[in-house]
This record gives sequence, C-alpha cells and structure tokens, in this order.
Amino acid sequence: MRSEELGVRQQATGNGQRTELEVKDSKLNAQHSYLHSRPRRLRKSEVMRKLVRETVLHPSQFIAPIFIHEKREVEIPISSMPGIYQFSLDRALKYIENMQAKEIKSFIVFGIPERKDSKATSAWDERGIIQRANKKIKECFSDILLINDTCLCEYMSHGHCGVIQDSDVLNDPTLEILQKIAISQAASGADIIAPSGMMDGMVAAIRSALDENKFQDVAIMSYAVKYASSFYGPFREAAESTPEFGDRKTYQMDPPNKKEAIREALLDEKEGADFLMVKPAIPYLDIISAVKEKINLPLVAYNVSGEYSMVKAAAQNGWLDEDKVILEMLTSIKRAGADVIISYFAGDVSRITNDIR
Ligand code: PBG
Repeated sequence: MRSEELGVRQQATGNGQRTELEVKDSKLNAQHSYLHSRPRRLRKSEVMRKLVRETVLHPSQFIAPIFIHEKREVEIPISSMPGIYQFSLDRALKYIENMQAKEIKSFIVFGIPERKDSKATSAWDERGIIQRANKKIKECFSDILLINDTCLCEYMSHGHCGVIQDSDVLNDPTLEILQKIAISQAASGADIIAPSGMMDGMVAAIRSALDENKFQDVAIMSYAVKYASSFYGPFREAAESTPEFGDRKTYQMDPPNKKEAIREALLDEKEGADFLMVKPAIPYLDIISAVKEKINLPLVAYNVSGEYSMVKAAAQNGWLDEDKVILEMLTSIKRAGADVIISYFAGDVSRITNDIR
C-alpha cells in the first residue's frame, strides 16, 4: 500500500548511501506529505528565483523617444508627462549622452517643426528639424541607432496623418509623401524608418522608394498594428499633433479587433518590413501575444504616453511604488512576446533592473 510509504522519505547522504528518514508525525508535516509538487521550491531564495526567471529586461532592447523642436527654449516640459520635454537640438544631444550612461543606445526621434502646411513640406525639407537633427546626432555619436517616426501629423496644419480631401484622409497620395519623407530621413542619417500613419501599402511604398535611392540597408520598423487609442493623448501635447477636426478612426485600428491585427502584421511582413510594432502595449498584451505567434520578425511594442502618464500620476500621489510598477509593467510587455520596447521609461530600466539581472 502506498499509504505505508507516506510519511517516509528517501534521502541521499553525502557518501551516496541511502538512509530512511522518518518524517515526524506532526500535523505540520505528515498530513501534507501527499503533496509531491511543490512549486515554491523554485521561489525559495533570490538566487533560485533569478536562476529560473523566464523574462529578463535589458536596456539594450529598449528604445527611448525624443521630441526635438525648433523654438528658442532649451527645454519645454510636457505638463501631462512629468519628466519628458521638448528639447532644442543641442539639449537633445546632451540627453542622448546622458542616456548612453544608462545603457540606452536606440532612439526614436519626433520633430516638432516651426511651420506646418497642408502638404507636410517641412517633413521632407533637407533643412527640416528631423533632417538637421539626424545629421547632428550622427556627427556626435557613432554607436547609436537612430529611428525616425515617419508620419505627416506633426507637419500637417490639420494634424492628420495624411492628405485631406473633403475631411477624408486619402491613402495613395499620402504614400507619395511618405516616400519623400523616408528618402530624406535616410539621406540625413536615419538607420530605421518607422512609418506610423497606418496607410495601406506604406511599407511596400517606402521599401521601394528606399531601394530605388540606394538606401537598401536602411530598415523599416512598421507601426503595423496601431490602434485608434485614447492613450496617445499626452503624446499629442508633446508632439503638437492633435487633429484639428475628427479623429483617426478611419486609418488606425478599431480597439475591439484581434484578427485584423494578424492581417495587418502579415501584410507588412510580406511588404518587406524588418520589424513589426504593436501599439499601445499594456492594454493590448493579448494582441502582442497573438501577433508574436504568427510572425517571424522582431516584434516591437510601444509603451505609449498615456501608459507613462498614468504611472507617473499615481506615483506622484504616493499611490504606487513607481520603480516596482515600471518593472512589472515592462516585464509584462516582454513576457507577452515583445522583443523590443519603446518606452518613456527606457532611461529607468538600467537602474531598476540593476539588482535583478
Ligand atoms: C504619430 C504618432 C503618434 C504616436 C506615435 N507616433 C500619435 C498618434 O498616432 O496620434 C503616439 C505615441 C505615444 O502616445 O506615446 N502618428
């Protein structure tokens, strides 16, 4: 009978002989000896927990956003994003230097131009803010990755991500402008072009324009699965890109849809994207996980402005332990399947993971 064996354990001694240990017949021990699986063994100490940890964050897999303006001020704080600023170009260089000390070497740059119009001309002007920023940053730093957000909204007077006719965003005419922007961003030093406007065919259009202009080595990080989310609110203050009328629901995805995310991801993979992105991150962890299953490209998640502001607001009120919450949130994004994370918390990763990696 097995019951006779209960309460008795085999234990190996140091010299390899086996001796039988009678487990004391106390309520604390014997009555639970039918428990053969004890997952708590693997949580016994910090060394043990680290040994079996499945998801580890490292700053090398984070991308920090930077907002660069053409105004006089050195830095302008974004009121809805404590700790985030619009920088002058010189100040941005200093910021990049500081971030390097925090092991961050990849940056996604957003330009805030002095003038906007209905053709987004300042987005592909060779003296535009992004183009000047690219050149200067590349002059000053050799071992960084420079990603450019490739979209029209910051450069259009109406704030939409495409050409407007009768309140409608026109897809194909927008692609032609995206091609011009991508070429000028690549020519001024961008390593990665990141189209974020959710126009159909944007990856194929940009890939062919880059290739025709001998930028075949410049990569494309497609905002392939980008939802029409309310979590972008603080970003629009930071990038001065709030649409003047309407919303972005005819081009960005409808939040309840999941199968559509797979369709979008597969299309962009086929069109020649090098990275695919899901955005936002935290409210869309199921999407990250589903897309990850279907694609073979590196998957990027954008931990967006609203996700940042919520944590900051709660932390400022003393309602949450900021560092611990950041770590847990970023870990959940990675655990869901993201290989790379764009986050306003990128500069915090080195510090908060220091004692756990
Ligand atoms: C531009 C763009 C947006 C974000 C990144 N690129 C705003 C938008 O689509 O309205 C949002 C990023 C964030 O909220 O942090 N199209």
